Amino acid sequence: MKRRSPNRPTAEDKKIQEGLRSSGNIPVHIAVIMDGNGRWATERSLPRVAGHNEGVGSVRDIVEACGQLGVGHLTLYAFSTENWNRPREEVSTLMRLLLNSLQNETDKLHQNNVRLTAIGDIEKLPVKVQDKLAQAISITKNNTGLTLNLALSYSSRWEIAQAVRSIVRKAQKGEIELDDIDESFIADHLTTKGMPEPDLLIRTSGEYRLSNFMLWQLAYAELYISPKFWPEFHRKDLYEAIKDFQKRERRFGLVSEQVRRRKNGGEKSLANKIFESITG
Ligand code: FPP
Repeated sequence: MKRRSPNRPTAEDKKIQEGLRSSGNIPVHIAVIMDGNGRWATERSLPRVAGHNEGVGSVRDIVEACGQLGVGHLTLYAFSTENWNRPREEVSTLMRLLLNSLQNETDKLHQNNVRLTAIGDIEKLPVKVQDKLAQAISITKNNTGLTLNLALSYSSRWEIAQAVRSIVRKAQKGEIELDDIDESFIADHLTTKGMPEPDLLIRTSGEYRLSNFMLWQLAYAELYISPKFWPEFHRKDLYEAIKDFQKRERRFGLVSEQVRRRKNGGEKSLANKIFESITG
């Protein structure tokens, strides 16, 4: 598919985006728990489905803004393993929405140099959705801008269980030793293999929960909870979240002084420091 002219930010957007870029680091990977579609609809006396429909507009806006800002990866929790237990009609509506979005948006994603990927138990999705998804992933696979990663039929415990199964299988075949199993080995058996860990997790609708989402990968993520329901969360809210992220001090278990020195390029590895303190 040929790429046509990409989306351009408005003058106002451009100013805000430049401000964010110049005042600090843009997160490399943003993960989002899109929550509150149902409540958004109920508050307006609309069926829950209307909330999901409106939520697609927010997806579009956030994807565009992330692409323009230069965010590397955006993971959206679009359908959890637990969501299969929702009423049948709601599950069908969500699957239809997903199918329509893939049908209608792939061309635009491609024009905007977005690479689409997906994590989750994809084989559980209806075959039509699987096919459209595979097609969209294939069309966009060589794009070099934002990676839009959809978590579909995904849950973190499912992911960890399948990683353990795959590691044990290798051990049973004698392909690995016990000592091969360290943190990076485990990370390589998760569905996010090769992806940087999220720096920033955004959850909408004021809920303070992880809901079985990327439990391993979010170990050091900064959390941002927005009181807005997902259908009313737009690029300005994303900019606020990033502004807030830029004010945080990420210590990764170190103390502030070490973080400051590390930023100035003077921090040695922890192992070296301990060695030096022992040997004088
Ligand atoms: C949570 O709101 C939202 C979902 C379970 C689905 C999110 C799906 C979309 C935004 C549309 C399709 C997505 C893509 C990527 C095209 P909720 O229903 O749990 O809200 P509630 O907590 O208020 O009930």
